[in-house]
Amino acid sequence: MKICCIGAGYVGGPTMAMIANKAPDIEVRVVDMNASRIAAWNSDMLPIYEPGLDEIVRKARGRNLHFTTDVRGGIESADIIFVAVNTPTKSYGVGAGRAADLRFIESVARTIAEVATTSKIIVEKSTIPVKTAETIKEILAANARGVKFEVLSNPEFLAEGTAMADLHEPDRVLIGGERTPGGEAAIKVLADVYARWVPRDRIITTNLWSSELSKLVANAFLAQRISSINSISALCEATGADVDEVANAIGKDSRIGSKFLKASVGFGGSCFQKDILNLVYLCEHFGIPEVAAYWESVVKMNDWQKRRFATKIVRVLFNSVSDKKIAVLGFAFKKDTNDTRESAAISVCRDLLAEQAKVMVYDPKVPADEIRRDILGVGKDDPRLMVATSAYEAAKNAHAVVIVTEWDEFKTLDYEKILASMVKPAAIFDGRNILDLAKLKEMGFRAYGIGKC
Ligand SMILES: NC(=O)c1ccc[n+]([C@@H]2O[C@H](COP(=O)([O-])OP(=O)(O)OC[C@H]3O[C@@H](n4cnc5c(N)ncnc54)[C@H](O)[C@@H]3O)[C@@H](O)[C@H]2O)c1
Repeated sequence: MKICCIGAGYVGGPTMAMIANKAPDIEVRVVDMNASRIAAWNSDMLPIYEPGLDEIVRKARGRNLHFTTDVRGGIESADIIFVAVNTPTKSYGVGAGRAADLRFIESVARTIAEVATTSKIIVEKSTIPVKTAETIKEILAANARGVKFEVLSNPEFLAEGTAMADLHEPDRVLIGGERTPGGEAAIKVLADVYARWVPRDRIITTNLWSSELSKLVANAFLAQRISSINSISALCEATGADVDEVANAIGKDSRIGSKFLKASVGFGGSCFQKDILNLVYLCEHFGIPEVAAYWESVVKMNDWQKRRFATKIVRVLFNSVSDKKIAVLGFAFKKDTNDTRESAAISVCRDLLAEQAKVMVYDPKVPADEIRRDILGVGKDDPRLMVATSAYEAAKNAHAVVIVTEWDEFKTLDYEKILASMVKPAAIFDGRNILDLAKLKEMGFRAYGIGKC
């Protein structure tokens, strides 16, 4: 069997590396039009940082795992084609700022129809709006030359930072397909690939639309928990309650559960916001504005939380950060990834720069040019924005240290040393609640967490 995956990103690369490792008899080709990304996949410096990924790529690369820019060749020889291209929020025209931009999906469907000379199973791995499979089928049917395609939905539930563990032991694998003999047969082929390492009872099959919608709903529910606890964090600050204590108390209720109750400066990442907005757009499209407004409030709460954090920094620093140096520790949207898409750090840094602060950022995995590009835009520069090579360098002569990403190394920094190098009174803002605030206060910091007084 031959598999081709179109899109060598955060989903395509790790997912295919896992399949290639678990199924050495399957030939796996990951193709992408981005030549520098493919070159990185073929080098010692992989384009994405993910714990455990290097090792499994090294094991299978060159054996049954190949990375190439030959998209057409990959399509032609494959039995199963995974589509793992990006589906960003549309930034123009109808649905701008909400709907998913499906131009990459459409372009892939057209290329498949043009190139394929034998029957294939097309697997939607990308997160897409409900009914996208219909669009893909229509494009394929209108352009194919007598070749038969089955379209399946197989959304990916991995979380960046724990992708390899999530792929190795997924809570579930979801496969949606048409309830026709051809559809059922295709579902079985794909289920058999996963069954090499995933227990059968964790492989769920549904109709196409349930599968497509489940991915959007899963992300909406996860993000909703974060916005819910973040909304309570503001109330904790007003009342003297401690949000971690509240989260612990409510999480012990088995109906609520303890996961995803960590208050923070806000969620980031390429998926939560985009997928909720996509859901909102769908609801509006189908004439249910009340449901759209309900889910949109999850994103609004997140925006408010990011702004609230930056505002608090300004307020604590005597209502002005103008010309004050502020050290921002962490730039990735979460620990153990180099992905910065929609990172809370971007809006916090922009808000601080707008207040004329001097901002020095440090992140262990994100390169300096990426940090500058994300905050300022392509090709722009601002002398007030600097990038450090260590947390200590960032904190030196700063008025405040701001933790935005929960990298483990920030838990074990020498905060006495940091305090000694800062302008007094020195402030620290823990946007992830990873530090012992009481201890920092004892040391002499003005220390603030999220949802704590
Ligand atoms: N990142 C995550 O944690 C995550 C988790 C689950 C699902 N998803 C979904 O998976 C999809 C991919 O996400 P990602 O984070 O891997 O995106 P990404 O931007 O990292 O990777 C997508 C890749 O597709 C390539 N591509 C686009 N059009 C192409 C074409 N026509 N031919 C060849 N290559 C093409 C791009 O060059 C890019 O390298 C999205 O729909 C996303 O919502 C992402």
